[in-house]
Amino acid sequence: MTDSPRLLGISGSLRAASYSTAVLAAFADATAAEAEWDHADIGLLPLFNQDHFVDPLPSAVAEFRAQIAAADGIVIVSPEYNHGIPGVLKNALDWASRPHNASPLLGKPVLVATASPAFTGGVRAQHQIRETLVSALASPVITPEIVVGLVATKITDGRFEDETTIAFARVGFAALFDQVAKGAGSTSR
Ligand SMILES: Cc1cc2nc3c(=O)[nH]c(=O)nc-3n(C[C@H](O)[C@H](O)[C@H](O)COP(=O)(O)O)c2cc1C
Repeated sequence: MTDSPRLLGISGSLRAASYSTAVLAAFADATAAEAEWDHADIGLLPLFNQDHFVDPLPSAVAEFRAQIAAADGIVIVSPEYNHGIPGVLKNALDWASRPHNASPLLGKPVLVATASPAFTGGVRAQHQIRETLVSALASPVITPEIVVGLVATKITDGRFEDETTIAFARVGFAALFDQVAKGAGSTSR
């Protein structure tokens, strides 16, 4: 393992001007000295169909799973849709989750954050996202929930700028790095 953990960022929104993606970018900027970042594009994934979970996997699926396997840890920033996990994110996690007990998500540390223009910051989606990760035998990082309320007021020219949130998220990143250092996420080296 190199000194810097390799992190894979996953935004739960496909929207071009997504607040979640902006928050993820700000987290990546804030931790650029401590981690190597890669980013997944879950918009490229087809809808999950178990008939297609055979060799060869759809190329976008194979690429996404390889990104996960190469990462020491994952950072998800997502909106909340109708009080739950966005379908595109669930779809991506479903593609990554098989076979059970031997998927690229197995034991992978995952830091979860949610964002919303509402005061509630997408907090109601957190449990569903974590529950999906637990089902996939990933290792969601235990930390105070990182919830970004009123996110639209914290975006300037498409960039998320809120030092209070970044400082709070650092606690979660410290827990993520600690979990990675204990070896939970290293599957490919
Ligand atoms: C289908 C749909 C459902 C939504 N449901 C919620 C919700 O339950 N709670 C909430 O806070 N915002 C909800 N919103 C508003 C989103 O938080 C808002 O559109 C946000 O900008 C989406 O995240 P993004 O900026 O990362 O794309 C919903 C939006 C859509 C399109």
